[in-house]
Amino acid sequence: MIRTEPIIRLQDVCKAFNSHPVLDGISIDIAPGQTTVIIGPSGCGKSVLLRHIVGLLKPDSGKVFFRQSEVSALSERKLCDIRTHFGFLFQGGALFDSMTVEQNICFPLDERAVGTRKDRKERSRTVLSLVGLDGLQSQYPQELSGGQKKRVALARAIALNPEVILYDEPTTGLDPIRGDLINELIIKLQNSLGATSIVVTHDMASARKVGNRILMLSNGRFIADTPPSGLDEIDNDTVMRFIRGQASDAELAELQTEQFTALTPESSR
Ligand SMILES: Nc1ncnc2c1ncn2[C@@H]1O[C@H](COP(=O)(O)OP(=O)(O)O)[C@@H](O)[C@H]1O
Ligand SMILES: [Mg+2]
Repeated sequence: MIRTEPIIRLQDVCKAFNSHPVLDGISIDIAPGQTTVIIGPSGCGKSVLLRHIVGLLKPDSGKVFFRQSEVSALSERKLCDIRTHFGFLFQGGALFDSMTVEQNICFPLDERAVGTRKDRKERSRTVLSLVGLDGLQSQYPQELSGGQKKRVALARAIALNPEVILYDEPTTGLDPIRGDLINELIIKLQNSLGATSIVVTHDMASARKVGNRILMLSNGRFIADTPPSGLDEIDNDTVMRFIRGQASDAELAELQTEQFTALTPESSR
């Protein structure tokens, strides 16, 4: 078997905020051309993990690599070069409201003065057709639906033809149909660009559909690492409850039942 070098490697990464550990010794190798999905409850550190990969956050200890480059040790100027290999669809996917769709997509290209103005317009057209929105160039973000905004943000994220695409909760806030369109796009981009994708989500349908590999983050560590087909076989209570959407007894106890009793009219107690 030919072993490919990982494109991204995290080695024993630890990160705490206000002495609260968020990443507690994370190690992972990510193979090129694969879609890796990271699932886990809100606030468990998924976005923090993505930010380490592009050097927007530095680990307290441990290392992050992109190929041979140690991202966690690079200067800000070198990081700018490294980031041209990455497309980042941020949680919320914020577009610039005062710019048209085309100006939004051309922004990363203008910033790096890629080609001529005509080349950049042409590139924005190509990526807009990839996400199925060619023709909307002169619209403003407020004229678009939530799903369309996500797709424009995605077009912007792939404008520089990145090797790695990071998606932070790409389907959150979309209805199931719009969410599934995004899933299909992730798969299509993966196939047509040959990109490596990392998708952070708590949408299990999306995780199963787009992932080649699913990792679950909990209490600062990975507690599952499996192909989607193995997900239901995992013998771990936290993983099982998460994928089925079932709260534990301890979580249910947080709903203070006595306060509900107080809400119930006395006649029906
Ligand atoms: N820049 C920051 N400063 C302080 N705390 C942060 C910062 N970024 C994230 N956190 C905390 O780290 C934890 C993980 O956050 P995050 O990665 O955003 O979670 P999620 O898994 O929902 O994406 C949360 O408790 C959050 O409040
Ligand atoms: Mg997040």
